[in-house]
Amino acid sequence: MTVTQADALRRVAAPPALLVAVTGGKGGVGKSTVAANLAVAAATAPGRGLARQVVLVDLDLGLASLDAILGFARRRHLGEVIEKTSDVRSVVVRGPGGVEILPAPRGVRRFAALDADERRRVIEAIRDASRGRDLAVLDLPAGIHPDGLAFTDEVDLAIVVATPEAASLADAYAVTKLALEARPDRRLGFVLNEAAGPIEARRLIERFIAVVRRFLRGDIAPLGWIPRDAAVTRATAARRPVVVAEPSSAAAGAFRLLASRVLASGAI
Ligand SMILES: Nc1ncnc2c1ncn2[C@@H]1O[C@H](COP(=O)(O)OP(=O)(O)OP(=O)(O)O)[C@@H](O)[C@H]1O
Ligand SMILES: [Mg+2]
Repeated sequence: MTVTQADALRRVAAPPALLVAVTGGKGGVGKSTVAANLAVAAATAPGRGLARQVVLVDLDLGLASLDAILGFARRRHLGEVIEKTSDVRSVVVRGPGGVEILPAPRGVRRFAALDADERRRVIEAIRDASRGRDLAVLDLPAGIHPDGLAFTDEVDLAIVVATPEAASLADAYAVTKLALEARPDRRLGFVLNEAAGPIEARRLIERFIAVVRRFLRGDIAPLGWIPRDAAVTRATAARRPVVVAEPSSAAAGAFRLLASRVLASGAI
């Protein structure tokens, strides 16, 4: 048996990874920052048990944002998997903390909106690449993009990100509503990003969860809050995840807590 055959067999036999999507209504609320730091924190998990094997997928297929945030050199991308010119394994790039990244195409119009067949191919490729790993984190495009909603329906847990801004919370509510309409039994989590402090964070999180329960008759689990932190700004400028660039910052601590909650939710 060749090494490739053995690897293929191992992958078929391996259990699927926990699939987690990071979504949110409004652009620029920190979805990619949350996805990247969640993935790297779970892969390095300092002081919280074993480091996990993590796959991070850039599903912002029109604009690609993770390479800008994480500073990896992208040779191939998921567009080639969609067009069947590359196998998903050959697209993987190693990122910080050993995270395996599936990069997106950038600025290619035809990938900005997919048909049902193409979406299925992307989801199959993600399942294939993450089989035998512990966790796959999917970074989704902004807003109620049809691809974003379709990918959200495929995951075990969808994390809705919002900032304290009223417009962002209203958009997060709209995304939550659509997600619950598509699959009422689905698991949702809420993360408040760029919070000024614990009092504001708790108040807004509690209110959001109460509104979802009351008007949508659904549950969304509080997964915590990330402070607005200059360490994130510096890390983004340096194209590094804050959990690696400034591990003792308040934001990095919050991302590690988020990672431990997400891992606990999947009991992996
Ligand atoms: N907790 C934080 N503290 C300070 N700055 C932050 C924080 N979270 C995100 N940012 C900054 O906000 C900006 C937007 O973040 P990001 O690209 O992650 O948002 P996004 O929701 O993925 O955007 P898009 O909708 O364009 O994909 C970045 O410059 C990032 O550094
Ligand atoms: Mg983004």
